[in-house]
Amino acid sequence: MQGPGVDAVSGAAARRHGRGTQAWRMPAERSIMGDQLPYERRLASPRGDATRTTTVPDGAARQDAILVVDDDLLMLRLVGSLLVERGLRVHTATGSSEALRIAAAIRPDLILLDLHMEPCDGFATCALLKSNPVTAAIPVIFLTADTDHAAVVHGLTLGAVDYVAKPFAPAVLLARVRSHLLLGRLTGGLRAEVAARTAELTALNGRLKRLSAAASLVEQRERRQLAQGLHDGVIQTLALARARIGAATEPRVSLAEIDATLESAIADLRSLIFDLSPPELHLLGLDAALASLVERTRRRFPVDLALRVGGALDPLPEEAAALAFLGARELVANLIRHAAARSGLILAERDRDRLRVSVIDDGRGMDESRIGRGFGLFSLRQRLESFGGSLRVAPRAPGACVVLTLPLAGQASATDQVRDGS
Ligand SMILES: Nc1ncnc2c1ncn2[C@@H]1O[C@H](COP(=O)(O)OP(=O)(O)O)[C@@H](O)[C@H]1O
Ligand SMILES: [Mg+2]
Repeated sequence: MQGPGVDAVSGAAARRHGRGTQAWRMPAERSIMGDQLPYERRLASPRGDATRTTTVPDGAARQDAILVVDDDLLMLRLVGSLLVERGLRVHTATGSSEALRIAAAIRPDLILLDLHMEPCDGFATCALLKSNPVTAAIPVIFLTADTDHAAVVHGLTLGAVDYVAKPFAPAVLLARVRSHLLLGRLTGGLRAEVAARTAELTALNGRLKRLSAAASLVEQRERRQLAQGLHDGVIQTLALARARIGAATEPRVSLAEIDATLESAIADLRSLIFDLSPPELHLLGLDAALASLVERTRRRFPVDLALRVGGALDPLPEEAAALAFLGARELVANLIRHAAARSGLILAERDRDRLRVSVIDDGRGMDESRIGRGFGLFSLRQRLESFGGSLRVAPRAPGACVVLTLPLAGQASATDQVRDGS
């Protein structure tokens, strides 16, 4: 078998630690038995101990780093030279505590760990590596002469990804190293992806919580507004009407005045009812409700708002009509509150499959990124999407154009019914 720089690693493995020594057959000209290997650089550790660190020359591109741990120096050099010749960055440690320290400091991409070391063996070292969050994710491959199944299983349950039996064929060791480096990279990529997605979800969750808090605040505010409208408008006007009826014997208070007061109370009530749920929508349909919305807005605000209806809108399913009206009302409220527009247009169109309502203005303009800044458009989009529809901001300059779309799933419009003779 051809190995990289090593012909073959063969022979009956006599073991150290009372089990003898291993016999490695090396090509003479590339012997790694000498004191100084061509790649080797001894880096003085901060404490000046015998940390043996082997690296590729300075300036090399970042390569995968491998920590080889073995108390057999010969084995360290053999494995080290094999990996360095394949362009890998190799660090070595001759014992458990040294291995733990180097692993935490450099976080190698892979650890090749000898099983039989004194005083702390490979199993205990692996367990310690896995219990430290800094080193837990680093894949560990056991190098062992002990191919007893129980030992292998024990190593794998401790978190090792693989084992290579000594004596080994260099090609096998390299193939395993390569495949675990690749797996490690893929796993790292996946882990980063999961972390990024989790962070995204956490941020979204926080935003949702803030928005739901804002929603209940908006609801409270709307209730207060309605209560205040009833109190300041309708109740006051009716109280005034009563007072006038009480004073009706006075010639100065005419029936016409009482009539005007009651008329104003009725108008206030109608306006409040329209804000709650417009009767036009249920009695006459979306077309009439939108016309009423335009008319009321023009009366209350200095904006030239118009309605254009493409084709017959009604009849519509009740929920679609209600959602389309609610959407149009939110967009018109935004036009008044945010756009600083002089004019606006509600454009409502329907065909057999969908209903589309666009609100266009000539104000300061907006884009999709504004959705979610407040509660109105965000919750409207949620409701439309849960209905199978959509809300989008169409590009437009100057001004804004927000388009609501609702599916009608083959609902026939009045025009279709006339056309079909139904
Ligand atoms: N027609 C518009 N013109 C300009 N900006 C708009 C318009 N409609 C919405 N916006 C912007 O989008 C944001 C989000 O709107 P919305 O979700 O309805 O929240 P809110 O109205 O409560 O602020 C608004 O705060 C505003 O900055
Ligand atoms: Mg709004």
